[in-house]
Amino acid sequence: MSGVRTEKLQRLDQETLERLIEIYMRGYEGMREYGGEGESYAKRYLRWCWDKAKDGFFIAKVGDEIAGFIVCDNDWYSKYEGRTVGAIHEFVVDKRFQGHGIGHRLMEKCLEYLGEHNDRVELWVGEKNKKAIRFYEDYGFKRVGQSGIWVRMVKDLRRDDIPPEKGK
Ligand SMILES: CC(C)(COP(=O)(O)OP(=O)(O)OC[C@H]1O[C@@H](n2cnc3c(N)ncnc32)[C@H](O)[C@@H]1OP(=O)(O)O)[C@@H](O)C(=O)NCCC(=O)NCCS
Repeated sequence: MSGVRTEKLQRLDQETLERLIEIYMRGYEGMREYGGEGESYAKRYLRWCWDKAKDGFFIAKVGDEIAGFIVCDNDWYSKYEGRTVGAIHEFVVDKRFQGHGIGHRLMEKCLEYLGEHNDRVELWVGEKNKKAIRFYEDYGFKRVGQSGIWVRMVKDLRRDDIPPEKGK
């Protein structure tokens, strides 16, 4: 898709928040169990993301329209790792724009950013979200654990191979 650009979100005003909620709700259509309980949840969650990881909140724009976003946190204490790592808290492309390479653009931006600060990235993805899991695996993320319906995946930013956690 031509005319896509990625940039850091400058401020989370009301209009932007509403657009991000719309993308989030649409992006997770048909996967409600992984996308929260509705708009008020989305609003609280996206505000939390903004407060936690302003510097790594990237959006993709097609013309003037926000088409997707990724929230990358360079200061996340992972109790599973027992230390601070990078984390991807959210990653969604509007359903209308999926499958055109926007997700790839956002992921590249994210990994470039986290690579400046972290040696490992962690994320959680719904176990039935096969498309996203495959997408992450193509980037070298490995499944290292599971908690309920959520699969934990990690990627080492400076080495290729990450051994699985004991017992997984
Ligand atoms: C996961 C997600 C963010 C990926 O975003 P996306 O914009 O659809 O991803 P892309 O288009 O970059 O890549 C997906 C596929 O689209 C196709 N594609 C990629 N670039 C393309 C292009 N330039 N033109 C056409 N199709 C393209 C490819 O089939 C690609 O698969 P590949 O990985 O084998 O290359 C999106 O599916 C989404 O929002 N899902 C719902 C929310 C979600 O599950 N988030 C993750 C939670 S942890």
